Amino acid sequence: MNMDVIVSLGKRRGFIFQSSEIYGGTGSCWDYGPLGVELSHNIKRVWWRDFVQRRADMVGLDASILMHPTVWKASGHVDNFTDPMVDCRECKRRFRADQVDAMPWVHYCEATRGNKFVVPAGEACTHCGARRTLCPECGKGTLTAPRQFNLMFKTFMGPVEEDASVTYLRPETAQGIFVNFDNVLQATRRKLPFGIAQIGKAFRNEITPGNFIFRTREFEQMEIEYFVNPHDTIDGRPADEQAHDVWIEACRAWFTRYGLSPEHLRLHEHAGDELAHYAKRTVDILYHFPMGWSELMGIANRTDFDLKQHAKFSGKSLTWFDEERKEHVVPYVIEPSAGVDRALLAFLLDAYREEEVRNEKRVVLRFHHELAPVKIAVLPLLKKRGEIVARGHALRDRLARRWVTVYDDTAAIGRLYRRQDEVGTSYCVTVDVKTVGDPEKGEAGDDKVTIRERDSMEQIRVPIEALDGVLARLLDGGAAWGDVARDFPRAEG
Ligand code: GAP
Repeated sequence: MNMDVIVSLGKRRGFIFQSSEIYGGTGSCWDYGPLGVELSHNIKRVWWRDFVQRRADMVGLDASILMHPTVWKASGHVDNFTDPMVDCRECKRRFRADQVDAMPWVHYCEATRGNKFVVPAGEACTHCGARRTLCPECGKGTLTAPRQFNLMFKTFMGPVEEDASVTYLRPETAQGIFVNFDNVLQATRRKLPFGIAQIGKAFRNEITPGNFIFRTREFEQMEIEYFVNPHDTIDGRPADEQAHDVWIEACRAWFTRYGLSPEHLRLHEHAGDELAHYAKRTVDILYHFPMGWSELMGIANRTDFDLKQHAKFSGKSLTWFDEERKEHVVPYVIEPSAGVDRALLAFLLDAYREEEVRNEKRVVLRFHHELAPVKIAVLPLLKKRGEIVARGHALRDRLARRWVTVYDDTAAIGRLYRRQDEVGTSYCVTVDVKTVGDPEKGEAGDDKVTIRERDSMEQIRVPIEALDGVLARLLDGGAAWGDVARDFPRAEG
């Protein structure tokens, strides 16, 4: 799968645009267009429904992005949320020190009278045998020694730009949950284990953003902090370790349920030197992105680190009272943390297919129907016939009360189908002459429409009065197309 294909489709069909494009774009910031915003909302909606609303042990939260600056001192972000970076003294470009050796490098080779080559990452020049010592991008400047660079965006709270008013745009949503732990506990009277979930924006001044929406400076996270009593055991294992395994499997299953191929997913266990300062164990779910296996989400066992830190810095007790053991406990935390944008990119990549249909190329996004940005497209077979157009508009208006439905009459039917396939629309509903009849010929309409399913391209003829029920079975009831289609006559395309 080529990322350029998705970037181009994304722009052409209104999924993703470069931010501030008319001004030349803003580095690594992207805007979701009409279809992208629907896809993003659908991902967040099903995640929230599956992991919060349907579970008895979960509640939600929406904390503010700007928080007390001490939050970031307590969490360790002020001191530890850094990447080592180096600068080119010539072109002034900045790189992560730990990534320069993994980049192809520009080389002016003296053995070939200074000809310019781009040498693959980690390799020596085949002409002179030199290895990279200079800037990989310009090939001329020396690099500075590594310096630690904090990834948090600093800003000022209030009208005065002074040190006392410095605060940060949150680099993760997690801390909003930790600082509200006691509020939620008091308000909901929860018993361990229970979890708090949050979806929201996070900001990181990444040194090397890139790969489209994979690594950006502004992104959205879907995070859960699942609080467990570390003194409990389940099947002879510490409860936090058992809960960690359960969450890893639940997250992996969630991604495959909504369409990612199992063979495109892999688990990665963090080695000791990879573990964050707060983590006892972390497992990433990797996805096979076009640039290689890369992190889709992480599931960490953060122990009691954050609650203890916030208790220390705030002077407030952040414990849960264990009635059975008559003791205060600082819960351990299992944290499944996923990026909305990375999930969206993975769902887009996995849904993309190029197929050959009647000797023509068909591009189709085979989205899970719950994720599809548009569920139904109402298409008139003949734009010239006023009754067909009017019936089509009326149908769209009616269906749009329940599902995202569009109307399109700007091309012939074959091309309209292809356009809807290319954006992953689940079902097309076609209104034709037989639907409305032909008064000039004295023919009455049959009040039936054709439903076409995206993946199989099969079509059935359905009475309009049954249409809402059929679509509800398919879109809300999760019925398989074959089970519904067998109740109606086939229509030929
Ligand atoms: N609270 C834990 C935490 O933030 P993380 O591994 O730094 O952990 C979690 O981030 C997830 O957030 C990642 O797996 C990824 O999906 C997403 N994410 C992190 N940085 C990102 C960035 N710069 N651009 C897009 N998504 C990002």
